Amino acid sequence: MKSLLVTGSSGLIGSEVAAYFAGIGWRVHGVDNNQRAVFFGEQGDTRWNQRRLETTLKGFTHHELDIRDRAGVAYVVRDIKPDAIVHTAAQPSHDRAAAIPFDDFDTNAVGTLNLLEAVRQSCPESPFAHMSTNKVYGDRPNTIRLRELPTRWDYDDPAFVDGIPESLSIDQSMHSLFGASKVAGDVLVQEYGRYFNIPTCCLRGGCLTGPSHSGVELHGFLSYLIKCNIEGREYRVFGYKGKQVRDNIPSLDVARFIHAFIERPRVAEVYNLGGGKQNSISILEAFDLVERHTGKSQRYTYVEQARAGDHICYYSNLRKMRQHYPEWNLTQSLDASVQQMVESWTGRAAS
Ligand SMILES: NC(=O)c1ccc[n+]([C@@H]2O[C@H](COP(=O)([O-])OP(=O)(O)OC[C@H]3O[C@@H](n4cnc5c(N)ncnc54)[C@H](O)[C@@H]3O)[C@@H](O)[C@H]2O)c1
Repeated sequence: MKSLLVTGSSGLIGSEVAAYFAGIGWRVHGVDNNQRAVFFGEQGDTRWNQRRLETTLKGFTHHELDIRDRAGVAYVVRDIKPDAIVHTAAQPSHDRAAAIPFDDFDTNAVGTLNLLEAVRQSCPESPFAHMSTNKVYGDRPNTIRLRELPTRWDYDDPAFVDGIPESLSIDQSMHSLFGASKVAGDVLVQEYGRYFNIPTCCLRGGCLTGPSHSGVELHGFLSYLIKCNIEGREYRVFGYKGKQVRDNIPSLDVARFIHAFIERPRVAEVYNLGGGKQNSISILEAFDLVERHTGKSQRYTYVEQARAGDHICYYSNLRKMRQHYPEWNLTQSLDASVQQMVESWTGRAAS
């Protein structure tokens, strides 16, 4: 039986990856310490999801471990010698990072280094998939010429008609401290590939969505927006007239891509992993879509000041992913993802 080590296993992507691999017969070892509740308070608590995995997945073992604990990480990797590693544990918020710079960097950069070095020492042949972010490009996408449509911004430059490719520079733009710590992790993952020939890849996510997100205002855009709608809470829109665009990829399609990579790994690769143009949506459009699913109108306020370094329009160009892994594709529409999240939040409120 093959074994997988997944960090951040109680989070959105980690739990989806754990369930996916357990479902195809792998033994799954999850690492998480519910740090999301420390970062975001009670609303970010992921223990419910940990319990769900422990009670529903066959062959799942939870390891209560902080990835900043270098010796602990080395021990777990040496003990398990996993056939593949999926690294999703992170401080994931752009805005939160400025208040906790050391926690942010120690988790996103140093935690990633701890894991990479442990893999180099114990199982350098095992594929290593790392969740990076589109924030490694900083606010450079905001320099692309845009046009304003009634409900969204869009690129007005033919070079970006299919979205942002991996060749966009990550240099000389505003990243936020979160973007900077993720750049450090991203470059380390590439380097452990290129320098030590470990089969690594960085997945530079757009907006990742799914029913297992513990969405909060500072992280998990669509999940949090739906939660606000269902609970009748006010959603705050920060700048850009609410026309800012994000591409959303369902967590299941992220897990499917990671599986494709693990089956046929490459070395030191980088992919922009998102929903692409077809799954892109602006905040105003998201209000409309969610209202259609819940029948409740969205309460919101508008804050003129945009978030520092926030993207005005971002959707991923998926060409490279499709070229390298033609068996992979998006399987779920944005509409279906919203329905799933509405059901999940409604179920969680009832339990
Ligand atoms: N959700 C998105 O929209 C999005 C977009 C782009 C990139 N990403 C990246 O994808 C990855 C997964 O994101 P997510 O949405 O699943 O996040 P998440 O917060 O839902 O999950 C991350 C998990 O990691 C755990 N964790 C955090 N710090 C830890 C530590 N020091 N030790 C052990 N566990 C720790 C948290 O408790 C949480 O359960 C992150 O690297 C994130 O930066 C996410």
